[in-house]
Amino acid sequence: MEEKKTVSEYMEALKNINADKDFSACVVTYGCQQNEADSEKIAGMLQESGYSIVKEPALADVIIVNTCAVREHAEERALSVTGGYKHLKAARPWLKIGICGCMVSKSDMSEKIKKSYPYVDFVFGTEKLAHLPEILYHSYEKKKRIFVPNNGETEIAEGLPVIRESDFRAWVSIMYGCNNFCTYCIVPYVRGRERSRRPEKIIEEVRELVSNGYKEITLLGQNVNSYGKEFDGECDFATLISRICEIDGEFSIRFMTSHPKDASRELIDVMAENSKTAKHFHLPVQSGSDRILKAMNRRYTIDDYLALVDYMREKMPDIAISTDIIVGFPRETEEDFCQTLELMKRVKYDMIFSFIYSPRTGTPAANMEQLPQEVKSERMNRLLALQNELLAEKNESYVGKTLRVLVEGRSKTNEAKMSARTEGNRIVLFDGDESLTGKFINIKITKSAPFALMGELDV
Ligand code: SAH
Ligand code: SF4
Ligand code: F3S
Repeated sequence: MEEKKTVSEYMEALKNINADKDFSACVVTYGCQQNEADSEKIAGMLQESGYSIVKEPALADVIIVNTCAVREHAEERALSVTGGYKHLKAARPWLKIGICGCMVSKSDMSEKIKKSYPYVDFVFGTEKLAHLPEILYHSYEKKKRIFVPNNGETEIAEGLPVIRESDFRAWVSIMYGCNNFCTYCIVPYVRGRERSRRPEKIIEEVRELVSNGYKEITLLGQNVNSYGKEFDGECDFATLISRICEIDGEFSIRFMTSHPKDASRELIDVMAENSKTAKHFHLPVQSGSDRILKAMNRRYTIDDYLALVDYMREKMPDIAISTDIIVGFPRETEEDFCQTLELMKRVKYDMIFSFIYSPRTGTPAANMEQLPQEVKSERMNRLLALQNELLAEKNESYVGKTLRVLVEGRSKTNEAKMSARTEGNRIVLFDGDESLTGKFINIKITKSAPFALMGELDV
């Protein structure tokens, strides 16, 4: 029987079997930052296996589609895009197409791919990321389709190679999975149970990033506030942040996502005390109605939530707060919805990500009585109108202030300007030099526009 190899050995083996070829690989990503971070590892493993990484699927000899399942629309897009790659096999019969990520971590979807997408060569679940070199190797050697579903594996693969999209901004996953089971959400079913990376591994990664010139590090997890639960009080999330802040160098630390039921006062204190933490808090509320929050199994009330917001603002008066809101959850009444609008007016968010509720098979809310599509759309339109109004007011409130921003490069929408982001993730356009890219600078805000701020260098 063939002996099982390590990830490195499989990467080496792939290099060897394709040694006489000049192969490229392309990774196409949908979904949240967690998926983007996973895709950077996929690209890293593929490069280490001898492939050059390209952005254009038509030029690739391996295409990996990393999918999302959070809403129906995300699944539809991933499926239609994958369908579009079928014809590429006519020109390159050796092309390998693989699908991974949250969508194919649902067994029904994996079955659907097996039956209806015969040109897909392999599928692997979110827990099986590090198995990619092995799967690809066997796909060449055994010439048969390979399906590797999740099976509750809790081991975290450390030290995988990674190709980062940016030279100054980096994702660092600190935990995987989710145990919360909000009734609308598919994530716990497709990402498995919560598991944390060892703090020393995280600190080592951040230290290396900082020494390589990275300026903004975002710690990722579905519920970062429950980080370290399995370490018996040895290192919780607030402790992790304060330990990271002790690393020497000029950098800023961010994190997402925080669940309001677990966001602690200690964490807010640590943020307030450390200048290296970006003064931004993403705190998804989902609904302004206690009745709906209960049906969503969120386990906090609007009073609890507002107390947290008030504490943050007391400790950090200029903190930017953003949120996620779901519109049209089953049995949401006009009154429930109006409470959400009231909450938006009360908190005055810096940013709101709003979504129409999308039933996900297998979650409890999918079996509840649903609202008609027209009601959901009509409420969404009203929410967006209010959101634009509040955002314009918020943008206006920054005029005259000087803000510390991280320069991202030339603006994609206005070539004449440079683009930067505030600590609260707002875009600021200004006249400046490209050499400022990747640097922290101070900008005086001169004007607000609907989707950005305008400013000038404050020297
Ligand atoms: N772990 C994060 C969020 C992950 S999903 C958290 O707890 O906040 C990102 C956002 O997608 C959620 O905050 C929610 O607003 C939205 N979302 C999740 N499931 C959804 C569904 N079935 N329909 C519509 N929006 C959904
Ligand atoms: Fe989904 Fe809730 Fe977990 Fe966030 S906390 S990933 S919304 S189940
Ligand atoms: Fe989507 Fe999975 Fe993220 S479902 S939102 S890619 S955790």
